[in-house]
Amino acid sequence: MIRILNHPVINSKITQLRDSETKPAEFRRLTQEISMMMVPSVTEKFSTVDIEVQTPVEKSFFPILAMPIVIVPILRAGLGLVEGFHAALPEASVAHIGMARNEETLKPETYYLNAPQELSKAEVLVLDPMLATGGSAIATVDELKKKNAKKITFVGLLSAPEGSRALSNAHPDIDIIIATQDRELNDQGYICPGLGDAGDRIFGTI
Ligand code: PRP
Ligand code: URA
Repeated sequence: MIRILNHPVINSKITQLRDSETKPAEFRRLTQEISMMMVPSVTEKFSTVDIEVQTPVEKSFFPILAMPIVIVPILRAGLGLVEGFHAALPEASVAHIGMARNEETLKPETYYLNAPQELSKAEVLVLDPMLATGGSAIATVDELKKKNAKKITFVGLLSAPEGSRALSNAHPDIDIIIATQDRELNDQGYICPGLGDAGDRIFGTI
């Protein structure tokens, strides 16, 4: 399932991200605000179980989340989304995966992985602002499935149609939730009109 949120407030913040005059401090603040705003949509289908609670008035059954949440930022740029998700989901654990696109082949290369061995009983949220060719996201989901992840959602800010299609074709069983989708990829694998290199803009390494 691919869902493009196109929420007016989120889109207006993404417009600020797109502006090449937006500096890293502002870029990080906006990214954090957007990610926090995406949490309700991303989590709305999470399953719950009922537990018995004694309120000051009576005892009854109420829902809590059925499974722990593991968030998986794809380094580096995915780190920009962690704070917003943690603000709403402070109990979520964080697994890190380092994935860099080889800028010539545009193929992703895994350079770091620190995740629980067993993910079959977790809601796994893969975070990366950019879904361009889809290569980094596909390779990340491949790695997570090796650890038995069953319920995976990819969360991104901006996609190219080519990238969301590629991820959905490679992993039809995962949910893909994107804030907004742009026109196309260019020959260098950049999303157009896009916002440039998200990692560089978050960390000021331009
Ligand atoms: C960017 C971005 C994604 C990837 C998307 O990371 O954050 O991870 O490119 O491109 P793809 O869909 O074509 O794989 P990059 O490799 O530039 O690394 P960085 O986050 O360290 O800057
Ligand atoms: N990665 C980015 O950071 N930006 C793009 O436009 C494509 C890939």
